[in-house]
Amino acid sequence: MFYLCTPIFIPKTLEKETIYILAIESSCDDTSAAVLKNDTVLSNVVASQEIHEEYGGVVPELASRAHQQNIVPVVNQALAQANIDKKQLSAIAFTRGPGLMGSLLVGTSFAKSLALGLDIPLIEVNHMQAHILAHFINDASMAKPSFPFLALTISGGHTQIVKVSDYFKMEILGQTLDDAVGEAFDKSAKLLGLPYPGGPLIDKYATHGNPLKFPFPKPKVKGLDFSFSGLKTSILYFIQKKTAHNPNFIKENLEDICASVQYTIVNILMDKLKKATKLTGIKEVAIGGGVSANSGIRKALKDVQKSHQWNVYLPNFEYCTDNAAMIGIVGYLKFKNKDFSAQDITAKARYAIS
Ligand code: KG4
Ligand code: ZN
Repeated sequence: MFYLCTPIFIPKTLEKETIYILAIESSCDDTSAAVLKNDTVLSNVVASQEIHEEYGGVVPELASRAHQQNIVPVVNQALAQANIDKKQLSAIAFTRGPGLMGSLLVGTSFAKSLALGLDIPLIEVNHMQAHILAHFINDASMAKPSFPFLALTISGGHTQIVKVSDYFKMEILGQTLDDAVGEAFDKSAKLLGLPYPGGPLIDKYATHGNPLKFPFPKPKVKGLDFSFSGLKTSILYFIQKKTAHNPNFIKENLEDICASVQYTIVNILMDKLKKATKLTGIKEVAIGGGVSANSGIRKALKDVQKSHQWNVYLPNFEYCTDNAAMIGIVGYLKFKNKDFSAQDITAKARYAIS
């Protein structure tokens, strides 16, 4: 066996003027491409895959096929919206992991080929780091946290409290022992007969419901770790019991059930976050990941900002759920550090944040 020599590309003109990054995200079921001019987003195109709705969850095989179909038009649209020609690009950043292997392979292979073809550097990005570093996108409507800060990363695959001491110095203080919080939302929604992804629908129905109508138990988990599998089971038993007496129970109480589920989940998250600020003495708190779009968690954080004198950072909605702009900001930060990847880099389905 022999290995081809794959040197890391170092551009001669590294210190020069403006940096244009093309970023690609394909870790789950959204194909996204963005163009950044330094730390400013020029375009951020996301193609969501509706095919998974009918299966009640992401089907990995279908996701990778859809990425194959979407990636070229999505990248072309991102370049067109940014009014940038491929030849102007300084580097290609891509999501290396964590995520679904088949999905990651599409973005990784595309990014490698394009960087090779254009003879520009390639930059690998950790998806969960990107959810956190999205806060450093230059956007007048978003304030930037100061180091050190605590990040609550809440998505369909993760639930973590991370201490962020610097851009690339992150330490996990606590995480879920079973389901991620996004899964808890989606699985609860499925039990209520709502389509995938159910998180945004629970949020929508919760707006008009009574959060105290149906109390659900909160798990007892030590330290800063989380658990959501028990909640799912108690919702299942609750629904089974209620519908046995009244088949229309869900329909008649949907808003109150959604509000109660959301209230319980938000309380679980907030309790641990409060504990983390007490243990670390850090009152700079940022959230990231798809579930940070949830109105319940956003409101709870704004309330605690006042009552506990925290500085709370909420990303704009377009930077909460999976998007390539967050990959682009990490690409920009790594470009400045000359932190480039070799052409033999591979996708990583499991990829720790630190
Ligand atoms: O970060 P993300 O887009 O993909 C992953 O990396 O997992 O997160 C997707 C998750 C899904 O579970 C979805 O239901 C949830 O985020 N989500 C929400 C809301 N918007 C998205 N959950 C609750 N309320 C929302 N508004
Ligand atoms: Zn994500």
